[in-house]
Amino acid sequence: MSDPIGPVPVVEAKGARIPLLGLGTWDLRARLCSRVVEQALRLGYRHIDTAEMYDNEREVGEGLRASGVKRGDVFVTTKIWPTHFAPRELERAARECLARLRLGEVDLLLLHWPNPQIPLAETLGALAKVKREGLARHIGISNFTVAQIEEAVRIATEPLVCDQFECHPFLDQTRLIAACRRHGLAVVAYSPIARGKVRNDPVLTRIGSAHNKTATQVCLRFLVQQDIVVIPRTSKVERLSENAAIFDFTLSDADMAEIAGLASRDGRLVDWAYSGRQKWD
Ligand SMILES: NC(=O)c1ccc[n+]([C@@H]2O[C@H](COP(=O)([O-])OP(=O)(O)OC[C@H]3O[C@@H](n4cnc5c(N)ncnc54)[C@H](OP(=O)(O)O)[C@@H]3O)[C@@H](O)[C@H]2O)c1
Repeated sequence: MSDPIGPVPVVEAKGARIPLLGLGTWDLRARLCSRVVEQALRLGYRHIDTAEMYDNEREVGEGLRASGVKRGDVFVTTKIWPTHFAPRELERAARECLARLRLGEVDLLLLHWPNPQIPLAETLGALAKVKREGLARHIGISNFTVAQIEEAVRIATEPLVCDQFECHPFLDQTRLIAACRRHGLAVVAYSPIARGKVRNDPVLTRIGSAHNKTATQVCLRFLVQQDIVVIPRTSKVERLSENAAIFDFTLSDADMAEIAGLASRDGRLVDWAYSGRQKWD
């Protein structure tokens, strides 16, 4: 294993200090999941992203304990699935997340996708209550559009610290990023390396060769250099250090502009159909 990475910078949002680099865990299961989480933490990652829907919270908790890293030094995020957005359901689901993780609280609890079937005020009220009861240090949203962010911020009774959404160089998210900035929400980028697709991009590869970095590292640097939190996932321990070595170089303004030019409005990879679904099953 390579040398542990240095301290990971944080982004601050409404009292939350979120490490700019986290480990995504979607689709990591069983022993592989706990092993990758453990190794990531040993290497210096200090932020893990999971969700009740990923069916791996138990293994995330095991990896956390096996790493020997102090609980207080790790930022743990989980997410509530929209079928559980009715107030009582939400509280029960949050307690079940904590039981699976075997933690007393998470650092950040998110609404995984908006659910138009249940009034947002009720769901946000329940989320705020869960926070006040000490189950989550911070709360936030995921996959909310600009209009949904505006509505959520207007009615939330406790601060929302982030919106987590798909964000990488191939997708133009300028409007969503601007809305987050306007309301003081951190931007958390999921699928930040476009599910591995950035690796072969010629522009990112060329810029990387000038910095002695891979295309994937250039992509992640492009995001963190804008204070966007990244949570790349890998199932391969050897890639953990590659994805973390992004704080020892700086992209020039010209590099940043050229990478921004790769974005398109239809560059989405994750099925957005969820957000408009009438029924959550
Ligand atoms: N809120 C939401 O609705 C939502 C939706 C999607 C994702 N997320 C979160 O965001 C995390 C990240 O997004 P994601 O998992 O969709 O995609 P991602 O992190 O952009 O990409 C993961 C893919 O890239 C590959 N990869 C990782 N490092 C690499 C490297 N250095 N070089 C080449 N390929 C590499 C991985 O393969 P190997 O395993 O073979 O390395 C995997 O196939 C998720 O795991 C999850 O925690 C949240």
